[in-house]
Formats: sequence, structure tokens, C-alpha cells
Amino acid sequence: MDFELKNLTRTLICSEKADALIMLVPEGLTAGDDALSLLAALAIKSGDLEVKPGKLLNAYRVPGIAATRVVLVGAGDASPKNIRTAVNAAMGDLKTSNAERAVLCLSALNALQSESVRAAVVACAEASYTYTTTKSKPVAAKLQQVLVAVDSLANAQAGFDKAIGLVKGIDLAKEWANRPANHATPVLLAGAAKELGKLPFIKTEVLGHKEIEKLGMGAFLAVAQGAAEPLRFIVLRYEGAAKAQAPVVLIGKGITFDTGGISIKPAAEMDEMKFDMCGAASVLGTFRALAELQPALNVVGLIPACENMPGDRAIKPGDVVTSMSGQTIEILNTDAEGRLVLCDALTYAARFKPRAVVDIATLTGACVVALGGVRSGLFSNNEALAESLSRAGESSLDLCWKMPLDDDYAEGLKTNFADVANVAGRAGGAVTAAKFLQRFAADFAWAHLDIAGTAWKSGLAKGATGRPVPLLIDYLLGQVLAAEPAKASSKARPARKSTPAAKTRA
Ligand code: BES
Ligand code: MN
Ligand code: ZN
Repeated sequence: MDFELKNLTRTLICSEKADALIMLVPEGLTAGDDALSLLAALAIKSGDLEVKPGKLLNAYRVPGIAATRVVLVGAGDASPKNIRTAVNAAMGDLKTSNAERAVLCLSALNALQSESVRAAVVACAEASYTYTTTKSKPVAAKLQQVLVAVDSLANAQAGFDKAIGLVKGIDLAKEWANRPANHATPVLLAGAAKELGKLPFIKTEVLGHKEIEKLGMGAFLAVAQGAAEPLRFIVLRYEGAAKAQAPVVLIGKGITFDTGGISIKPAAEMDEMKFDMCGAASVLGTFRALAELQPALNVVGLIPACENMPGDRAIKPGDVVTSMSGQTIEILNTDAEGRLVLCDALTYAARFKPRAVVDIATLTGACVVALGGVRSGLFSNNEALAESLSRAGESSLDLCWKMPLDDDYAEGLKTNFADVANVAGRAGGAVTAAKFLQRFAADFAWAHLDIAGTAWKSGLAKGATGRPVPLLIDYLLGQVLAAEPAKASSKARPARKSTPAAKTRA
């Protein structure tokens, strides 16, 4: 989808040729004497349009309006959240239509903030996303062009630019997450990371079995040993600041399929375990967005990628393995594999002397029970980091919720046969998983995002959400300000580079 931002009065919007014109109508609409304002005012007055977020009214070939169809949509108080609801509703309507070119009119929203423009553009792109990679006859989306009309570019431009970069990241994350496991193997994920390595400021390194063995990643290797599909450890670097600046490390769980291993999962909905690499996909997506937005920061991305399969080589319940940290782990349940691949990545992360380490993982069904699909679970050993991530979740409309890490939760991880067991009882499963990870993150500020409930949707709308790319991007952009409060960009920083076009699809 192509987006364009333009400064247009409502009068000019009326003469803009398009297949559809979507007008966001806020509470307390300020009247104008153009045809669009008159139409909206009349519809409200007659009770045919409610300005509650997402309420719709369609009109066709309206005198004085050049666009073929007009979609009036209520935007409530025009908060970013309500704008998202409004755009979603209007786009749902347009998605099945013939419209190829649409105008999205934000001009009626008073004192438009950059967050509002971002919310509108991101929602518009999200609503029109369709997965086609493994269809034999892909049906391309009809809607190709959206002109975003505002009444002042002053605040809008920054929000618009941010949205465009973010959307590229969200789309890439969705694409890889949605691909079935046989089309998104560890080797293919590594290929996607190498593609990213061609973008400005990004370098990619991929480790195979030999190197992983040499590093002593015994926990990661243990998970991978049941699968015929070879494992990969992916290292991405985004170098947007001076080399001396400590990086933020992002670690994405990359289980490309989770059968549970010998502790096998029930058959129902097991297909959804192709999404067990959504953490990895969010790291790839975040790097895609970083290449566009080019903040003055250093970021490292780590992805331990493998399948979790049963088989004659697979780990067995009760097996004890030695992690890269030297800590021994009794694998009581082979389905608790995410923490096993993540713990070695956490140990590896220390070599970057990171400013902060954030792991992102579809880690526990218990987190889905606790928080559902609304907020991701947030765990952290550092108050300031937790606060920054929470705030990034709020500002990007990609919410998370801070969960506890009391040491008492770790009691159940004690075992007679190793330093730690990989599972505790059923109670508090999201927290005990985080307590396991925390043992490997003692040397740096660390946070863990459990995205098991938020990374994809089940049922009719089954598909990846691209979360938490928006949260991660807002967090990272916030780090630029935190690192350099006075000057926006440092001297040592290389000049902005342009990204080659049409690289979104890997
Ligand atoms: N990938 C799953 C977590 C998961 C389950 C995400 C359902 C989304 C929906 C993870 O590897 C897993 O199997 N976790 C187990 C842990 C248990 C064995 C302690 C779980 O949550 O059941
Ligand atoms: Mn599992
Ligand atoms: Zn898993």
C-alpha cells in the first residue's frame, strides 16, 4: 500500500478524485461550508451518524464531492485509540469493495497530534494486510493508494513518517509469523535476517551447529536435537550510533514449530504452534523498522531458532543438560522449551555489555490465561526499564502489564538432580517461567515480554498481529532521547542512508 500525506482543506478534499473518501468525524465537529462538512453535520443532526468511535454511515455519489463513495466514521474524542477504532471500522467496510484509491480525511480532527496520525496510518495499513505467500492464486488487495489529508503538516509529518517505517516492520513480522513451519524453518528465518543485513546500518551473522556447540549452548542444542531441521543462532546488529554506545539487546524466541517434544501437546489447535516464533518475527520486524527510521542507537537482535520435535534423538523428561552459563538444568517437561533456548541467548547477550536486554517470547499458556489477548506480560529486574516499556506500550497502543517476580515463585524450580528444573507446578506458570529466565539475566537490566496471548489471533481471524513491534519501536526511539538529551544526533553517527525500495517482502 502506498501512503501520501497532504495538507488539504476540507473544501479541497471535496474535489479530490478517489474511489472512496473516509472522513473521521469527532465529537463537537467544527462546521464548515464545504459539502463534506455539511454532509457530516446533517447526518449528526438527523441522528443517522453517531460520533461514537467506529460508528459508520455510507453515502454514494454525493453532490459536490468528487470521491465516488463517502464513509463517515465516528471518532469519539479523537484519541489515538479511538482513531484506530474508527479507521478499523471504515477499512473493514472498504476491504471488500472495489476501491483502489482512498482519501483518509483527518482534517476535521482538532489540534491533530503526531500520535493520532500514526495511529490512523498504522490502523489503515493493518486493516488492509492480507497474507498470500502460500496461496496458489494470490488475490492482491484492491486498495493500493491512500492519501492522508490533514489541515496542518506541522505535527502530522513526524507521526506519518514514523508510521510508514513502523508498518514495514509490522508487515515483515506478520509475514514471517504467518508462514507455516515448513515455509519458515530456522534456515529460512536466517535467510530473512541476511536480507535485512543488506539494509542501511544492519549487519547479520548466522551461527550453525558447530559454532553453537563451541559456545556451549547446551540448553538450546538440547531442544533442537529431536528435529531433523537444523538449528540456527541469528545475530543482527543495527549500528546507528557511535561504536562506544552500549546497545539494547532484543532476544526473540524462534521455535519454528512446537510439538511439545516427548511431552507432546494435544492435537487440537497444534497448528497454532507455528506461531511459536513470533518473538523472533518481532525482532526481524523491529530491525526492518529501524532501517527505515534510523535512530541514533545501537541495537543487537538475537534469535535462537529451532524446532521442538519428538523423536529417537529428542530430549527426555528428566534429562539434565548444561547451559552456556554453566548452570545445569533438569528438563522435567520438554514442552517448556522456550526458556531453554532463551537462557543460552541471555548468556550470550552479556558479551555486548548491553544497556538493557529485552526478550520477547510466546512463552506460556498461563500468560494467555492471565492477561488474554489485550496486554502482553511484562517482567523485569529493573524498575526504570519496566517503566520505559510500559510507557512505550501505552503510547504505541501495544499494551503490556507488569507482573511480579518475587523469589518465592522460584521455589518450585528446585530439584535434587540439577541446579534448576525447567518447570514448576501449574500455578503461576507465566511467573515461574520468568523466574527461570531471571537466573540467566543477573548481570544486566533485563525485561521479558510474554506475548503468548497477543502475538496472534485464533479462530476466523487467525493470523499474526505484528505485536509487539510497535511497543519495541517506541521503547527504542525513547532510548535515543534518554541517551542524548541535549543533541538529537551525535557526531560519530553516519549520515542517513536510503533503503532500497520494495525490500519489505523477503
Ligand atoms: N509455546 C508454548 C506456550 C504457548 C502455549 C503459547 C499456548 C501460546 C499458546 C510453550 O513452549 C509451552 O508449551 N509452554 C508450556 C509450559 C509448561 C509445560 C510449563 C505451557 O504453557 O503449557
Ligand atoms: Mn512448548
Ligand atoms: Zn513453545
